[in-house]
Amino acid sequence: MSGERHNPFMNLPANEIRKVFANQFNTLPLAVTRAPGRVELLGNHTDYNEGLVLSCALDRYIYAAAGPTGKNNTFEFFSTFNSSLVVVADAVRQQGSAWVNYPLGVYTILREKGFPAAPFALAITGTIPMGAGLSSSAALEIASGLALSTVYGFSVDPVEMAHICRDAESTFCGTNCGLLDQFSVLFGKKEHALFIDFRSLEHQTVPIQYQDMLLAITTSGVTHSLSDSAYNGRRKECAEAAKFFSKRDSSVVSLRDVSSTMLESAKGELDDVVYKRAAHVIGENERVRRGVEFLKEGKLTEFGTLLYQSHESSRVNFENSCPELDTLVDYAASLEGVYGSRLTGGGWGGATLTLIHRDAVDEFRKKIRAGYKEKTGREASVHFAAVTDGAGVIHSKSE
Ligand code: GLA
Repeated sequence: MSGERHNPFMNLPANEIRKVFANQFNTLPLAVTRAPGRVELLGNHTDYNEGLVLSCALDRYIYAAAGPTGKNNTFEFFSTFNSSLVVVADAVRQQGSAWVNYPLGVYTILREKGFPAAPFALAITGTIPMGAGLSSSAALEIASGLALSTVYGFSVDPVEMAHICRDAESTFCGTNCGLLDQFSVLFGKKEHALFIDFRSLEHQTVPIQYQDMLLAITTSGVTHSLSDSAYNGRRKECAEAAKFFSKRDSSVVSLRDVSSTMLESAKGELDDVVYKRAAHVIGENERVRRGVEFLKEGKLTEFGTLLYQSHESSRVNFENSCPELDTLVDYAASLEGVYGSRLTGGGWGGATLTLIHRDAVDEFRKKIRAGYKEKTGREASVHFAAVTDGAGVIHSKSE
């Protein structure tokens, strides 16, 4: 007996990717999935320090269509981003088409955990601007993981799925990232921010008091490479800071256990650079707590101020900004109707997040692009995004 299930949010790109899959692989896919991008509102580099994050999923997506290849150990990939077919003879890390490492990595970790995934064909398309810091990589991982579980008929607990996709990114793609991206992509909720505790993995949704506020993502055109040793280097410095404090107080496990008073008392004893890294993480945890309260109370001006403070701490303490991101934030701050702005995600390029009054949108787009171009010679693009639901299966066909 064969049955088809359709989800009401079936939309254009999902239909498009079905057709692309059918043209490319001469058969219909057994699953079509959709995973959104994410933005971190506050809580920069806190996730791998067992800290706090406020994030949300955005209405830019990766769509994936998948089916079995039916061939031993052969995997086939097609992306509408570059219209090229990649055939892989074994699930090993690829040097050439790097993007296939994300789905291949997810497949490999699923198998290691005992899930009955088998070789697959996968076609993808999407609307997430690449390399902009919106985590197209996590969206691709989650879209692939959900597609594989649908095609091969097994279910994975969402928290486990987040871990599997994170592990895929770290072992197959070289970035030892935290869980923020995968978690936000899976658990996002329309018109809500996600308040996540990365120690307990408990999360709550907080309504975003939109009033007349919009969320703008401005890309800097500087491509960040998270695999850069910079990200992994910051992780080590944070671990070093935690170790310093745990020697003083054995109850300290991670930077989550270090208060700003404890940090202050270590000034002069702790290496200067390590001190600054810890100051960023500890400050971010505090800003997330305050940010949640401001959001609940609809205090957007106060919330926006936290965004500026977060960026300043990135610039000075964590040193994960760059002149282009600073220029974007400074420009945003000089414009009418802007509540706050900061870099979002790993840093060293990518995008800024800006909260802005609806009436100021046109002026913002025009002025920030012109000002940025004049100062840096680069093109910025501005995307106004809505907060959306997490990833899901759009279409599945079971035989
Ligand atoms: C990247 C990583 C996340 C997180 C952020 C910074 O997006 O993938 O795990 O560490 O940077 O907050």
